[in-house]
Amino acid sequence: MDKYTQKKWDKAAPHFDMMAGGGAEKRWKPFKETLFSNMEGNILFLALGTGLDIPTFPKGKNISAIDISPRMLELAQARIDEYDGSITAEVMDVHDLKYADRYFDQVFTSCTFCSVPNPIEGLKSLKRVLKPGGDLYMFEHTGSKYYPFKVMMDLMTQLSKRLGPDMNRTTVANVAAAGFEVLEVNNLFLDVVKTIKCRNPK
Ligand SMILES: C[S@@+](CC[C@H](N)C(=O)[O-])C[C@H]1O[C@@H](n2cnc3c(N)ncnc32)[C@H](O)[C@@H]1O
Repeated sequence: MDKYTQKKWDKAAPHFDMMAGGGAEKRWKPFKETLFSNMEGNILFLALGTGLDIPTFPKGKNISAIDISPRMLELAQARIDEYDGSITAEVMDVHDLKYADRYFDQVFTSCTFCSVPNPIEGLKSLKRVLKPGGDLYMFEHTGSKYYPFKVMMDLMTQLSKRLGPDMNRTTVANVAAAGFEVLEVNNLFLDVVKTIKCRNPK
């Protein structure tokens, strides 16, 4: 378990809804609903945080959800209880998943690979537990290739990564580097907020 990352997110947890749960969350809601409407079968959700994504999940699904931060999951409990389906939430580091190889039909992430310390290793770990031919669906914010956003986000990351996420991740390239086949990238705001659909090759 990566104690440094766990402590950082435990500290962020009490303020997380105030920082992330307002306007941005409302704006992205329809896009998240569309992405999560693909949920079928045995599902892994990484990382649950305080559960802000839960109201956008389709009803009646059976979801295993993890997060490195116990404090985040404590705060998620009320939203887990309200969900019309089953969510089993556990404290777990994506770098050290306890699941068997090829266990899940699908994996979903939401604003996660801005935060996982070693993104390519974390993605390889997801690949291990995903069935060959299974899909990884991601809602992520990333760095931008466009000036001046690239410069701004590189600078912002120097501060943001101490308290929370990196703002300049190259998540699409990381997914490919981890061995996934990138099927679809939809840019929702510039090239910064996007949904990504990838497949674990057979
Ligand atoms: C920006 S928050 C997003 C939470 C939630 N998905 C949302 O959008 O509201 C990032 C989350 O990733 C979790 N996280 C960071 N590193 C992790 C790791 N190595 N394994 C599992 N979860 C991790 C943090 O604890 C935090 O809850």
